[in-house]
Amino acid sequence: MRIAQILFTQGLGSRRQCAGLIAAGLVRVDGRVVDDALAEFEPQGLVFEVEGRAWPYHERALIMLHKPAGFECSQKPRHHPGVMSLLPAPLRTRGVQPVGRLDADTTGLLLLTDDGRLLHRLTSPRHHVPKVYEASTRHPLTPGQVQQLLAGVVLDDDPAPVRAAEAEATAERALRLVLTEGKYHQVKRMVAAVGNRVEALHRSAFGALTLPADLGPGQWRWIDPEALLPPR
Ligand code: URA
Repeated sequence: MRIAQILFTQGLGSRRQCAGLIAAGLVRVDGRVVDDALAEFEPQGLVFEVEGRAWPYHERALIMLHKPAGFECSQKPRHHPGVMSLLPAPLRTRGVQPVGRLDADTTGLLLLTDDGRLLHRLTSPRHHVPKVYEASTRHPLTPGQVQQLLAGVVLDDDPAPVRAAEAEATAERALRLVLTEGKYHQVKRMVAAVGNRVEALHRSAFGALTLPADLGPGQWRWIDPEALLPPR
């Protein structure tokens, strides 16, 4: 693939801007300046540099972000900055967007992608991708509350009960829940439905991926889709 096309597909700018970066000598491959926009490279596995920053080529982007509190996942954030502001501009340019949403005050593992099929597969309720949440509760948890979360609770927008795939009190006021759907405010509403209240919420895992201890709040990294969903 031509270097100009590689830069364009990776979100480095419009075709004209990518050609400009190349002509200005700001693009390197293997440490050497590539100033010919027509130069061809095998994109798979390629790492190119633009203005000194290394970009690994990814046909489709899949990103894991440690979402801090105080950021909104919506496309048009209203009360807080958007999570997209935590990512470099090329990821925004290439159309990366959050896989589902976390509330502004929720922290933890947020996936983002520009792969429409993967986005659908990860968010569709049919696929039952498990998500692990750690909630701090206002009141001590009772065995009855945990049982109810497992047995199923009815939320106000749907008569069908929703149940946690797993629920466990990990401390007097700490709950670990595994959910396979992604309804609006689901954890907070389920916990409220059993007579308690979520004071803080953190997502620690999504599918087979666990938030790594060395990925601090606000930090992100590339991930391989196969680490998330084994091939079918
Ligand atoms: N459930 C909630 O209530 N909030 C989140 O952010 C995620 C799941």
